[in-house]
Amino acid sequence: MKLCMIGTGYVGLVSGVCFSDLGNNVICVDKDKEKIKSLKKGIIPIYEPGLEELVLKNYKNQRLNFSTDLKESVKKSDIIFICVGTPTKKGGSGADLSQIYDVAKEIGTSINKFKIIITKSTVPVTTGDEIEKIIRKKNKKKNFSIVSNPEFLREGEAIRDFVYPDRVVVGTKDIKSNRILKTLYAPLISKGAQYLNTSRRAAELIKYASNAFLATKITFINELANLCEQTDINIEDISIGMGLDKRIGGRFLRAGPAYGGSCFPKDTKAIINTADKFKIKLSVIKSVVKSNENRSNLLLKRVNLLLKNRIKNKKICFLGVTFKANTDDMRDSSSLIMIPALSKKGAKVSYYDPTGYKKEFDKYKNVTFEKNIKNALNKSDMIIIHTEWNDFKSINFKSYIKTKKTIIFDMRNIYSPSKMKQQGFKYFGIGR
Ligand code: UGA
Repeated sequence: MKLCMIGTGYVGLVSGVCFSDLGNNVICVDKDKEKIKSLKKGIIPIYEPGLEELVLKNYKNQRLNFSTDLKESVKKSDIIFICVGTPTKKGGSGADLSQIYDVAKEIGTSINKFKIIITKSTVPVTTGDEIEKIIRKKNKKKNFSIVSNPEFLREGEAIRDFVYPDRVVVGTKDIKSNRILKTLYAPLISKGAQYLNTSRRAAELIKYASNAFLATKITFINELANLCEQTDINIEDISIGMGLDKRIGGRFLRAGPAYGGSCFPKDTKAIINTADKFKIKLSVIKSVVKSNENRSNLLLKRVNLLLKNRIKNKKICFLGVTFKANTDDMRDSSSLIMIPALSKKGAKVSYYDPTGYKKEFDKYKNVTFEKNIKNALNKSDMIIIHTEWNDFKSINFKSYIKTKKTIIFDMRNIYSPSKMKQQGFKYFGIGR
């Protein structure tokens, strides 16, 4: 099939490349000329394991192409995926849909034959209706169908998630579009993915509901971890004990720092915003947002306590600063709250991340990037394991830490407390 992905961010690039790898002809479009130029040279703008190989392979065999010409690309394609960003509105909580509507207007003037136009970006309920109105204004023939087909890819696992999704959700009442999309996704369905056809609005809401539910699960376990800390219980026993109940499931029950990334914080706020517009109170999700926003402060209090209220001049080292492992993404990472707060209190913060130096910390006093783990750990008063990179899973602390006074605060519960204590370390985790 001939596909066009508009927007070469996370969603558009990963989905476009994977669709081409399944044998489709795909044009990935972006208005950013430099980005397209780089992509044509095989330079990938995001860090995603396995993506570069797939781009090179499919570009070489000419199933994948890149363009800045939206109109021409739309004309050449049968299925158009809108994959542009829907960030939180500046100063607000709802999603900024300006990029979506701009793209819709351009698509409207480029329809030369029947097109299936799909929102893959995360968009609030009724956005599909708006897109339909915009395109209809430009195109009276109505030879198009607007469908919602949300993505459920995780950063760092995006290729695997694309190839082996739990489900493919297609929101449309149009029988022809549904039939075509079922064929497009047939290779994934044959590997076990569930194909679910719903109304367009339902598909839009499924995406938000899923992210909000996962965010709730994490927040739930994070709050229970606070209780475990006061009652000498290991939170991991609770996660396993709860997770063995098939109705609950064990995934996304890992306690840690505040959840971050480009999706959960944005989407939880956006679903509340949508509900408010319909005068519906989503009180559970509202408290999840509040609890998560407070989590970094809570962990900072713990840091303060562990350092006996003496943060000034203390050398604190962060292992990992991205919001999770296998990504270079810093968006809404809890390190963006914790590191500046510690710097303000006079700590000397160093950090090491496998994805390198982060410009986000430039403006803070006494915050330095270290090129390797050894340098980072050297002479630290406190080591904070912030992100669960594999690189941090078997550190020989004994060879790096010369004084047993060093405190290790493992915010991802990577190490065994008993083994660390046996080795004489002052080791602390989350909820245990
Ligand atoms: C999330 C969803 O998992 C994807 O299904 C969805 O497609 C994506 O958002 C999106 O809307 O595009 P992502 O933001 O890449 O994916 O990252 P997750 O792996 O979900 O992690 C999000 C945050 O939750 C991270 O800060 C992570 O550290 C935290 N987390 C996750 C926990 O603290 N505990 C867990 O058990 C799981």
